[in-house]
Amino acid sequence: MAESMKGLKRTDYCGMLTAADIGKKVTLMGWVAKCRNKGGIVFVDLRDRTGIVQIVTEGDAADARFASLKTESAIAVTGTVQRREAENAQLRTGEIEVIPDSLRILSESETPPFPVRDGIDTREDLRLKYRYLDLRRPELQSRIILRARMVQIIRDYMSRNGFLDIETPNLIASTPEGARDYLVPSRVHPGCFYALPQSPQLLKQLLMCSGFDRYYQIARCFRDEDLRADRQPEFTQVDMELSFADQEDVIGINTNLLQELCEKLPPIMEEYGFDSALIDGIRKAAKDIAENGIDRMTWQDAMDRYGSDKPDLRFDLPIRDVSDIVKDCGFAVFTGALESGGMVRGINAKGLGGLPRKKIDKLTEVAKTYGAKGLAWLSIAEDGSMKSSFTKFLSEEKTAELISAMDGKNGDLLLFAADSFKVVCASLGALRLHIGEEAGLIDHNAFRFVWIVDFPLLEWSDEEGRFMAMHHPFTMPNEEDWAHIDDDPGHVRAQAYDIVLNGNEIGGGSIRIHMNDIQEKMLEVLGFTPERAAEQFGFLLEAFRYGVPPHAGLAYGLDRLAMLMTGSSSIRDVIAFPKVKDASDLMMKAPSAVDAKQLEELSLSISQSKKDQE
Ligand code: AMO
Ligand code: AMP
Repeated sequence: MAESMKGLKRTDYCGMLTAADIGKKVTLMGWVAKCRNKGGIVFVDLRDRTGIVQIVTEGDAADARFASLKTESAIAVTGTVQRREAENAQLRTGEIEVIPDSLRILSESETPPFPVRDGIDTREDLRLKYRYLDLRRPELQSRIILRARMVQIIRDYMSRNGFLDIETPNLIASTPEGARDYLVPSRVHPGCFYALPQSPQLLKQLLMCSGFDRYYQIARCFRDEDLRADRQPEFTQVDMELSFADQEDVIGINTNLLQELCEKLPPIMEEYGFDSALIDGIRKAAKDIAENGIDRMTWQDAMDRYGSDKPDLRFDLPIRDVSDIVKDCGFAVFTGALESGGMVRGINAKGLGGLPRKKIDKLTEVAKTYGAKGLAWLSIAEDGSMKSSFTKFLSEEKTAELISAMDGKNGDLLLFAADSFKVVCASLGALRLHIGEEAGLIDHNAFRFVWIVDFPLLEWSDEEGRFMAMHHPFTMPNEEDWAHIDDDPGHVRAQAYDIVLNGNEIGGGSIRIHMNDIQEKMLEVLGFTPERAAEQFGFLLEAFRYGVPPHAGLAYGLDRLAMLMTGSSSIRDVIAFPKVKDASDLMMKAPSAVDAKQLEELSLSISQSKKDQE
């Protein structure tokens, strides 16, 4: 049964009513969150996006209709606000209630497939199938709303700072940016495809050529890559580009933007009931940025000290190099790694000296999943007695020297990996995070930003058997290092920077190459023949012949930023309609097979379908 809302106008939002409204006649519209009949008195919790208010009826004919209300039905209630007898301090509207004089059931709900309230343990796939219902839960509503408010703050900041919001197309040519492209077949050009943009990179560079000077866009990006908790096949960037700008300009503008976000979000978060410790953490970050800016760390230091180019600085637990100390120590695992050009590094897990052997083996397993062949360990009990997997191979002096270099004290556990730079960083970096989490070293309400600068320009790919651009092929090399592009390409640094928050890369960018000779050389190093380069982005190289301004830019992953600011553990929680691990949408059932007619129009035929694979 459904009634019309003809003649009714909503006067207030449920969650906004306060004691100041006592005596006021209101018309509310929303959903039945709960309906309880307590011996003749019916309590209905009415919910809209601002919160919940209690409706109470007692003893007349209207009660029967209230008493039989189905949860999640959309209703309209007209009534009077009065003070509650028993206040509910948990509820923002807990001082008041509404005594109704009329009810309209606008749309009755069937029994929902799961209860629409916070704290449910319903499987995520079921919640995603009925995402529109899951999104009614206050927790998810407030995250999506906060994201919207973040965008509003960002737009306001960008516009005040002279950035123009310019749209770039989503149907473009395939350009190499690392991940696999999503392709869209063309009907008009049989056999030809558009690619969906992995980012507006080249287009925003062209906008600089056109003289727009400062561009930004909240841009949808598409990347066909393996999904994780912080990755979606389509995601949103806050994308920007600046002309006649250097690294200091980009870092300065973005440091201020992050400060403004951290200043403006807390009052909004309070309004939507976010955890107060989280809000305090953001306030503290705002103050910290205002007073000290955001720290910078070179890529090399980040890798050496934290084993990662996105270090989590909410705790220390640094990696230390002991290669010099152990270089002729007699332990073949160490010396062997050093002889083949590797290194020996370790971390001191303070206070874990009493960890049982089984748990140390678990830590070894963690290191092994990141490529380590093993983990050498030395534990010092509180009484100073030692156990170790390798000190039998070392002299007493060497052992003492090693402990001292690691700042080892009674009660500490020292863990070492001997391998290539890449494997040592990956395994000790992961171990550091694992121990930080397990040992409770991480303050989950802290917000630690850091700029990572001086990235390498190139990265060797074993798979491709060649150097690849670490950021993208349009990133300007460090001018001093460029002379070594032929003799030592692996050590040429780039004018590229990332912004990292709590161990997550929330954004990245670079100074762009605006000289054709450097760009051509760069493409040659990346293995492009002049013909292929011209074919793939000849338009950019050509544009650069007509007076290109030096330019630079950056893009944030908005979903990641929203995830961290709302204290969520997955970006799915801040995306209205996210996709799951295998890139499908469980609600719309995308991707899906299409009609033979559609395929025919596109001149496509299917050689293998999902069904064939099964
Ligand atoms: P980059 O590839 O580093 O740079 O992307 C910028 C930011 O986007 C976010 N991000 C993602 N978020 C969710 N799901 C994904 N699959 C995903 N991939 C990336 C990250 C990342 O830091 N054109 C350049 C920017 C520039 O140089 O101006 C670019 O796209 O937070
Ligand atoms: P083994 O000599 O094989 O008994 O190894 C002695 C210790 O060295 C064990 O604790 C191994 O886990 C450890 N180990 C093996 N390979 C490595 C490595 N690449 N780095 C650090 N420790 C290792």
